[in-house]
Amino acid sequence: MNHSPERITLRQPDDWHLHLRDGDMLNVTVMNTARVFRRAVVMPNLTVPITTVEAAVSYRKRILDSTPVGMAFTPLMTAYITSNLCPEVLEKGFRNGVFIAAKLYPANSTTNSAQGVSDLRSIDSLLETMESIGMPLLIHGEVVDRDVDVFDREVVFIERHLVPLLVRFPRLKVVLEHITTEQAVEFVDTSSSKIAATITPHHLHINRNAMFDGGLRSDFFCLPVAKRERHRLALRKAATSGKACFFLGTDSAPHLRAFKESSCGCAGIFNSPYALESYAEVFEQEGALDRLEAFASEYGPVFYGLPLNEQSVTLIKQNQVVPDFVEVLRNEQTSEKLVPFHAGETLRWTLLMGPNK
Ligand code: NCD
Ligand code: ZN
Repeated sequence: MNHSPERITLRQPDDWHLHLRDGDMLNVTVMNTARVFRRAVVMPNLTVPITTVEAAVSYRKRILDSTPVGMAFTPLMTAYITSNLCPEVLEKGFRNGVFIAAKLYPANSTTNSAQGVSDLRSIDSLLETMESIGMPLLIHGEVVDRDVDVFDREVVFIERHLVPLLVRFPRLKVVLEHITTEQAVEFVDTSSSKIAATITPHHLHINRNAMFDGGLRSDFFCLPVAKRERHRLALRKAATSGKACFFLGTDSAPHLRAFKESSCGCAGIFNSPYALESYAEVFEQEGALDRLEAFASEYGPVFYGLPLNEQSVTLIKQNQVVPDFVEVLRNEQTSEKLVPFHAGETLRWTLLMGPNK
């Protein structure tokens, strides 16, 4: 990595946690990710979740068909864990190189998670197989009990479910996705090298106040929900610490404006259009630009046992104003809107388009 006060050139990064959606949305989501990321772990929570190898292969083809000509992008597919899933399906998909990992959503914890898991014990046979074949388990780590405060959901999940799960499966590779609390940071930091966490750009920039700034602001509503300032500070410290257990995963999760604005607005922040620029700003503010490359481009592939990317990308110190909307074309006549993270703000870094050859 090469950086001066005006320019950073780093190995091309990957996004280890991404929602690309499907259908009309794919052109926009894939383009905004592939413009900077070489690979991405694609979450399986479609309206009909990805629970078979065939469904993953066909979704991967739709993603590749939506990748702009001239952009090299590899979607890394995941399986959606249900209580009915057979271990053989996971094993077959993993051994064939279709599934890179499997995602655990506690039932009703987030978007399209109704078919997720209510009783973790019911998937022990899946976890046993995953542990023995070295297939990573990606976890949405929140409890959904109504008697648990929404801001405590992650911490209670770790205590109540993750710790016992890791006692049952000590050799299982686990990524605790999109961590939001100092307790999660501490937990991952002090666990074995089999446990890692992704950190999103939005959880590094906003705390829970952003959702209530002058009114109810659904653009800043995501799950797990942003927490108090001290948690944001702990996440910034973790991301910029140079520790290999923390790496980049945007959790970019677009929902059309109309669905965000409804009286029961969807959770998710669409951050992929300026993701690397957003992370760079944090690393610069923390005086850690020299650690951005490892966080964005090295620790993820090392955890997953994949080669590092060969290409590089360059950010230059040039202000850019983030647009209020990104359009999704429905057909020739109609388009709908997505609000990108940082809408209306000025970012200090700008990506020179496309990876360096
Ligand atoms: C994600 C989505 O919309 O798919 N939403 C979010 O707020 N992060 C799901 C998830 O990762 O929880
Ligand atoms: Zn997600």
